[in-house]
Amino acid sequence: MACVELKNINKTFGNIEIIPSVNLRVEDGEFVVFVGPSGCGKSTLLRLIAGLEDPTAGDIEIAGKVVTDLSPKERGVGMVFQSYALYPHMSVYENIAFGLKLDKANKGRVREWVEKTAEVLQLTSLLQRKPRELSGGQRQRVAIGRAMAREPQIMLFDEPLSNLDASLRVQMRTEIAKLHDRLQSTMIYVTHDQVEAMTLADKIVVLNGGHIEQVGTPYELYETPASLFVAGFIGSPKMNLIPASIKSTNPGRSVDVDVCGMGTVTVERDASHMADGAAMTVGLRPEHIRLSVSGPDSGLEVVNVEYLGNEAYVYLEMPGMDDLVVVRESVPCQIRAGQRVALDADPERLHVFDADGHSLPRVQPQGEDDSVQQAASN
Ligand SMILES: Nc1ncnc2c1ncn2[C@@H]1O[C@H](COP(=O)(O)OP(=O)(O)OP(=O)(O)O)[C@@H](O)[C@H]1O
Ligand SMILES: [Mg+2]
Repeated sequence: MACVELKNINKTFGNIEIIPSVNLRVEDGEFVVFVGPSGCGKSTLLRLIAGLEDPTAGDIEIAGKVVTDLSPKERGVGMVFQSYALYPHMSVYENIAFGLKLDKANKGRVREWVEKTAEVLQLTSLLQRKPRELSGGQRQRVAIGRAMAREPQIMLFDEPLSNLDASLRVQMRTEIAKLHDRLQSTMIYVTHDQVEAMTLADKIVVLNGGHIEQVGTPYELYETPASLFVAGFIGSPKMNLIPASIKSTNPGRSVDVDVCGMGTVTVERDASHMADGAAMTVGLRPEHIRLSVSGPDSGLEVVNVEYLGNEAYVYLEMPGMDDLVVVRESVPCQIRAGQRVALDADPERLHVFDADGHSLPRVQPQGEDDSVQQAASN
């Protein structure tokens, strides 16, 4: 069992509080990804788990045992750093074998293991080189190999693929997924890459200013972000966050929302705590907006169309919004810059947030309530 538990973790550098209080449980064998803006505390949390930093308050448990006062070595954790340091005087082979040698494993087994690892990481032809003779991406792969050497129960990765080119990154992503399947070790992985987060994670932890905004499966975070912050953070291109206001509420049932550029939309959300006229925000993913060409004096102006080959992004100017609205269109795309367009979307695709940025709770459709009651009374 190698679950990891953070209990009321607080971290202060000097008099600056970086992490106010984090509580998190990572299950045995789980692949957890930390995401969040630069400086939000992702690396600090990993370093705390590894034992490279001491928490100012709180406890860290590994496999049910408090490890807060244990040294990194005693924690059974392997880590690949954001700025990884290889031993400069050692070859790639020796760097990868380093962990194994310390374990005094026999020579034949070390060779077999290093060769297998080098093959997985595409380093076979580089085994005799020194780190200074490698590219940044090659060094990063050696660092991953070295962390894999002990097959630790817990592996921590801090943006391990950030120096790789796009195609190697895709290959390595698959290799890391395979590695996780094979080792069944608990993995905590920091990345700025949306695709890595969505594809690798069992569970994503979204961090903002040292606190946890939301924890959930990739599906949960994409489909039901709990806050504006998560809504804007998960997904690429970003979810459009459009100013709106409440026209009228039907408490516990639905709310009529005036959405800039779309008119009035009825959504099945509970806005009973909000007054008519209250400002709010509607979130719409780029793939959920439908565009139709409108008259020259109506609708929104298309300022740019980006052709990506497999799809196109259409950018619109929306009054009251700093960001442009982005819409994903299939190709060939008939819409051109300078045209005016109208927006439309299925009401169930709308994400609705109150003035504090909290998602409005969904309500059960009336029909479902009735059928549940009917089933219960039968
Ligand atoms: N040793 C330190 N002393 C003082 N401040 C620190 C120290 N280490 C980190 N910080 C500060 O703590 C905050 C969190 O840093 P951290 O490295 O955890 O961010 P991050 O989320 O990993 O960011 P990035 O995505 O840029 O890597 C930052 O404001 C950073 O300046
Ligand atoms: Mg970092």
